[in-house]
Amino acid sequence: MDGGDIRGAVHTNIRHDSAVKHVTGKAVYIDDMPVPPDSQEVALVLSPHAHARIVSIDTSAAAAAPGVSAVVSAADIPGKNDIAPVFSDEPLLADGVAEYAGMPVVAVAADTYDLAFSAAKLVRIEYEELAPVLSIEEAWEKEQYTYKPPRIVFGDAEAAIGNSANVVSGEVRCGGQDHFYLESHIALAIPGEDRDITVHSSTQHPTEVQHGVSHVLGVALNDVTIEVRRMGGAFGGKESQATIIAAIAALLADKCRKPVKLRLRRDDDMIVTGKRHDFLFRYRIGFDDDGCIDSAVIDMAARSGNVADLSGGVVARALCHGDNAYFIPNALFRGWPCKTNTVSNTAFRGFGGPQGMIAIETAIEHIARDLGKSVDEVRAVNWYGTEDRNVTPYGQPVTDNIMPELVDRLTREVDYDGRKKAIDAFNASHTTLKKGIALMPVKFGISFNAPMLNQAGALIHVYTDGSVHLNHGGTEMGQGLFVKVAQVVSSVFQIDIDNVKISATRTDKVPNTAPTAASAGSDLNGMAAFNAAEEIKTRMAGIAGDHFGVPPEDIEFRQNRVYAGNESLSFAETAQLTWNQRVSLSATGYYRTPDIHWDGDSMTGSPFYYFTYGACIAEVAIDTLTGESRVLAADILQDVGASLNPSIDLGQIEGAFVQGMGWLTSEELVWDDKGHLMTHGPSTYKIPGSRDVPPHFKVHLLDDAPNRVPTIFRSKAVGEPPLMLAISVWLAIRDAVSRTGDYKLMPKLDAPATPEAILMSLEDIKQRAGA
Ligand code: MTE
Ligand code: MOS
Repeated sequence: MDGGDIRGAVHTNIRHDSAVKHVTGKAVYIDDMPVPPDSQEVALVLSPHAHARIVSIDTSAAAAAPGVSAVVSAADIPGKNDIAPVFSDEPLLADGVAEYAGMPVVAVAADTYDLAFSAAKLVRIEYEELAPVLSIEEAWEKEQYTYKPPRIVFGDAEAAIGNSANVVSGEVRCGGQDHFYLESHIALAIPGEDRDITVHSSTQHPTEVQHGVSHVLGVALNDVTIEVRRMGGAFGGKESQATIIAAIAALLADKCRKPVKLRLRRDDDMIVTGKRHDFLFRYRIGFDDDGCIDSAVIDMAARSGNVADLSGGVVARALCHGDNAYFIPNALFRGWPCKTNTVSNTAFRGFGGPQGMIAIETAIEHIARDLGKSVDEVRAVNWYGTEDRNVTPYGQPVTDNIMPELVDRLTREVDYDGRKKAIDAFNASHTTLKKGIALMPVKFGISFNAPMLNQAGALIHVYTDGSVHLNHGGTEMGQGLFVKVAQVVSSVFQIDIDNVKISATRTDKVPNTAPTAASAGSDLNGMAAFNAAEEIKTRMAGIAGDHFGVPPEDIEFRQNRVYAGNESLSFAETAQLTWNQRVSLSATGYYRTPDIHWDGDSMTGSPFYYFTYGACIAEVAIDTLTGESRVLAADILQDVGASLNPSIDLGQIEGAFVQGMGWLTSEELVWDDKGHLMTHGPSTYKIPGSRDVPPHFKVHLLDDAPNRVPTIFRSKAVGEPPLMLAISVWLAIRDAVSRTGDYKLMPKLDAPATPEAILMSLEDIKQRAGA
């Protein structure tokens, strides 16, 4: 029933519902919405210190300034000053102590942004500076964590390493990453009757914003409604962080009883809100003479920032991807969520997975250099098996492993061996430019680690003209979730997708939702919408059956019509008939992912419903005089199951890869020695541009690969996994660097591999090779 001659069925290439609006500027983002009369704008007063006691706050001059309608600090919070998404006691506004440079302390609402900005300058805050802890190392040494450090224990790694024929050990780090969504954080809070409040929030997690606003205002959840039609990009940055913006706007609106819009300027957005966690890894790996791993001890120290926020989930996912695609019979993976006086880090596409993979891929490379083998040979002896050697360190059996075949196919299709030889030849005849090539396999677990988040709801109405209203708990951030879920509904009813109205996510339509994250948006909301549509369809089939005098099983929905043999009614006529017979045309749908479980204390279980698989081969050139690098080619083969929409998925894969490239090459976050972020705009923080996209960039979807578990129309999640394929670029740069030392030495090259970093690692190789 999934195909059919309707426009927009699942598995077809239909463009994003807002594609034309995106490119013509007609898509309405929150800042484009007409604001109600008397709307106020907000300026924030941020802590200039990374760590300081707040001695006093005097807002009287600001409150008396022209056009000002409300000024708030922690003392003005009527409810609880706590917006923690998972743990508790994570303040919205600094109370008594400021814990990072850029932490909001006071917020001012005024008739215009300029008036608010001027008034904010009049706020007097007296600070007593305290010593900040700024680095992962320092926090780790002081054992300063944002929550109890987790670990995965599998077998006896320490004992096994003692018996290993070979051992390598090392250290590597990867940087953080700013989300750099085009639409910076924004919220528009509109007070209603009593203390009701509606907040338009650019959020991936309306329910969590609702919780945050309710805590801060001290009102019930049913007093608060959150709405989001679309975000101008999110990438994890609007999962928990949107609450900061929405709750400040709501607090001000609640106080002055006027609508309040808070829109962060780019610089403030980068300074105030969290980013990808940077990590410091230390590894010790025991292996046999073939390179087969016996044991891995990996410490993963993450910069959590001033509070835990989502670090629990991020570090758990890093630990659960410390195996990547390899069987490790004895593993000890320890996470260290370091508490630092820097902005609290948060979700970012991959959610710790990319970081966890950096560690094991570095280790694999280390084994190869130690044994004088190729990295690919070492990978091949370590793949997960299918019958045995197939249990992950956290205890989940890998039952759907297709990695060896997938990698085999990709390497054959792109003539990997031939290209390696061509690169050898190039390097033999060039001294200034050096090329490198590398493959990166990615196995990524789908589902939220925390089982409770794997649930979703939908609400569908069919109107008597046959048009359909679709609502669900997922949010649209550009990834194409809304069109995919609309395709599901159009396929169930067998009606053209043009008849399905996509609508804004609202907490009063579908309540108690999970964030749109973990790439599970279409898996969860697609299924919930499927269930709602099926229920209405069953009712309509009953009515049509009565009408034609046949059993409901003989009713068929096809090509916008409802058939009983050769007789038919239009879908609209059937809807009208259903109403006439007084049968409801409205239904909610609900779905929860089956077969998953997780024990967060022991870090064991089967948290993932399935895995997605992909691989990329990247070719780079580096300039040994300047350290500059260029990605020359990238070939990707990605498993997306039976894709709901192949063209949307291609876009996701391309975008994720380029975003990953940015993380690993050009995007560098720099703080000064007082903990101020120095890179808070596009002039100092370099995201990839169109000319950084590899000139040879080929993305292939693995065909004929329906998901083995019954996901929505056997599709697979796609949003995050391809980001990790970009690790091939980092590995290829390392390959190019190592060629200057005849492959024998491990390059000292962390991520991001900026030109400076590449130059320094070349210099280091030169010195070590000479010594
Ligand atoms: N694609 C676009 N265009 N914009 C985004 O913000 N976020 C990514 C990914 N793709 C993002 C995106 C992240 S971090 C996730 S988790 C998924 O989309 C979420 O959506 P999904 O679950 O519907 O794939
Ligand atoms: Mo994505 S980091 O799970 O929002």
